[in-house]
Amino acid sequence: MNLQLSAFLFLLALLPQVASAAPPVLPGQLIFQKNCVRCHGANGKRGLNGAHDLTKSNLNEFGRTYLVTNGMGKMPAFGKSLTPEQVQQVVAYSLTLK
Ligand code: HEC
Repeated sequence: MNLQLSAFLFLLALLPQVASAAPPVLPGQLIFQKNCVRCHGANGKRGLNGAHDLTKSNLNEFGRTYLVTNGMGKMPAFGKSLTPEQVQQVVAYSLTLK
């Protein structure tokens, strides 16, 4: 085996570690960007259309799941456009906003 090839194989072996060193992107983050940012803002603080500041919300996972599924006031219901799994993911992401 020549040196170049073994160097290449060595780098290949390192790749998975490099990839997992990057901060994880939660699947809920993409759902949040698509469905929630227009009112809540990327950081949850935007407050458009009377949206509550998500960083100050003390609703737990259960309460948020209910609210995102069924809506409340000007907050639209997402029970039809998102699957229960997607609701769970976006709620989990919203809980990381601080
Ligand atoms: C059309 C604007 C709009 C969009 C889009 C929207 N929201 Fe809201 N959201 C609101 C409003 C308005 C409220 C306040 C509802 C009330 O209490 O009357 C709210 C409240 C909330 C609350 C409760 C905060 C608290 O403690 O009172 C959560 C959690 C929440 N939204 C999450 C989300 C998530 C997750 C999404 C995306 C799936 C989303 N919202 C999309 C407008 C929006």
